[in-house]
Amino acid sequence: MDTYLEKLNVNNYEPLITAAKLKKSFGNFIAVKEISFAVERGLCFGILGPNGAGKTSTIKMIYGASPVTAGDLFVFGLDVKTQARVIKSRIGVCQQENTLDPDLNVIQNFEVFASYFNIDKKTARARALELLRFFALEQRRNEQISQLSGGMVRRLIIARALINKPELLILDEPTTGLDPQSRHQVWEKLDTLKAQGITILLTTHYMDEAARLCDELVIMDNGNILVQGSPQSLISDYTGRHIIEVTEPGKEFLTYMEGKDVRQEDLGHRLIIYAADGHELYRDICNRFENKDCVLRSATLEDVFLKLTGRELRE
Ligand SMILES: Nc1ncnc2c1ncn2[C@@H]1O[C@H](COP(=O)(O)OP(=O)(O)O)[C@@H](O)[C@H]1O
Ligand SMILES: [Mg+2]
Repeated sequence: MDTYLEKLNVNNYEPLITAAKLKKSFGNFIAVKEISFAVERGLCFGILGPNGAGKTSTIKMIYGASPVTAGDLFVFGLDVKTQARVIKSRIGVCQQENTLDPDLNVIQNFEVFASYFNIDKKTARARALELLRFFALEQRRNEQISQLSGGMVRRLIIARALINKPELLILDEPTTGLDPQSRHQVWEKLDTLKAQGITILLTTHYMDEAARLCDELVIMDNGNILVQGSPQSLISDYTGRHIIEVTEPGKEFLTYMEGKDVRQEDLGHRLIIYAADGHELYRDICNRFENKDCVLRSATLEDVFLKLTGRELRE
């Protein structure tokens, strides 16, 4: 691996992606507002945020599908403004949409895709079969795309993105629209790829997906990065370990809470209480307000987002 990196003239210690005051405008509208972040090699890095946050606009600049409006963006230490072609040859991209060719069968989709990377047909076929085996799609190799389920299509798109043996795999909303079982299948395959040393950059609006997969993530909203860190560090820094949720709190309960020195968010029908250790407060609430609908649970990235924006992430 080291010699491979040396040959590519890559500094192992340099971040794989560096963005500094990166900006994307569409006419007068600024979709990405001078964001800065770095992605370390070998990690699964997430961009988490609601629809319209600017996630796709950001990664499209990274994989060279959309020009940078302003700021600096380096991938593998190379400037995307001048070296997009080289960068593209070293990354795999899974767009959110189904980009498979419906007129071709499974294996033909690989062959055509491989030709964009100047991979010869024989090598393409051998790699395709290996990738299909890895994604449990080998039996489907001669089927038409329309015969595949949504989960299979998504796995196939990820498999195809690996045909050029990329160092960096970029996934835009990899499990949106999939059933729970298919999501877990995709997650497990991504775990294995990461264990093999590939760096993964993904966008998602699912906080459970970000928490499950990402070593490091940024939370994006309205074109800005709000925070960066590991899921656990963001949760402990911004919300504390526990959340107490009270449905229909009512006046009496809110008055009781006024005397408590804990952070809370009143959502109207629901009160969210952030607590470093919520057990004692929870017991007290249960004793005093026997009939209240009240739960104690672990804090999640959803709570971090709510804390930072006052809005809920789920749609
Ligand atoms: N080609 C475009 N022209 C104009 N506006 C766009 C274009 N692409 C995206 N936008 C706008 O930029 C914002 C961010 O979009 P996008 O990056 O797709 O967000 P996300 O992927 O987080 O949902 C949205 O308000 C979207 O409508
Ligand atoms: Mg998007």
